[in-house]
Amino acid sequence: MTRPAGPVDYKFVQQAYDTVADDYAAHLPDTRAEAALDLAMLDHFAATVEAGGPVLDAGCGAGRMTRYLADRGCNVEGLDLSPAMVAAARRDHPDLSFAVGSIADLSHPDSRFAGVLLWYSTIHTPPEHLGRVFAEVARVLRAGGHLLLAFQSGHGTRDVAAAYRRFGHDVQLERYLTTADDVASQLSAIGLIETCRLVRAAQGGERDAQTVLLARAI
Ligand SMILES: C[S@@+](CC[C@H](N)C(=O)[O-])C[C@H]1O[C@@H](n2cnc3c(N)ncnc32)[C@H](O)[C@@H]1O
Repeated sequence: MTRPAGPVDYKFVQQAYDTVADDYAAHLPDTRAEAALDLAMLDHFAATVEAGGPVLDAGCGAGRMTRYLADRGCNVEGLDLSPAMVAAARRDHPDLSFAVGSIADLSHPDSRFAGVLLWYSTIHTPPEHLGRVFAEVARVLRAGGHLLLAFQSGHGTRDVAAAYRRFGHDVQLERYLTTADDVASQLSAIGLIETCRLVRAAQGGERDAQTVLLARAI
């Protein structure tokens, strides 16, 4: 499968997560921040992916969702851009497998995975570059495999550096909003057909509505 042209510069994203990794792991060690509805989508994904089939937690951060899926029987491995996040994941989940790499340029062979999770890991990719990430996911997913992705819904850009300043970190980090319709239509164009979507209002300290979208590779 041909990858769309156009490199994405993730230098600031990597630097930011390398800087905040230990605080991220300490303050978000598990799924306590997720809404029950979000977890229902994750549970459905874990139950739907072919039993024993390999699953990639792409943009795994410090590994909390890798843990969640492993605890639900998934044969899951994590991958993240940030070496410090991967080091935290390996430290906190020594029984699981993690690697450093970019979801925009995966080293895995075609059709390797029965499932791919993108849990808030595409949010730092500018919308015009999402096609490259989605093409990589489509390439490594086998026919009948499932993609679950979560992201903040809407339009525009949010500066998230301020959230880390209270931990004493000075980083440059933005996230980009996008809509379920936009994502579903991009996925459909490359053979990832939406099977289910959750779009819910912001709750608690969230600033934006949230989307969790499940798609199946044809
Ligand atoms: C908001 S955190 C979410 C981490 C994890 N999925 C979780 O829910 O805790 C975003 C993560 O995506 C990773 N990330 C962003 N762009 C990436 C890319 N192109 N390739 C791999 N990881 C990426 C970041 O390094 C960071 O760990």
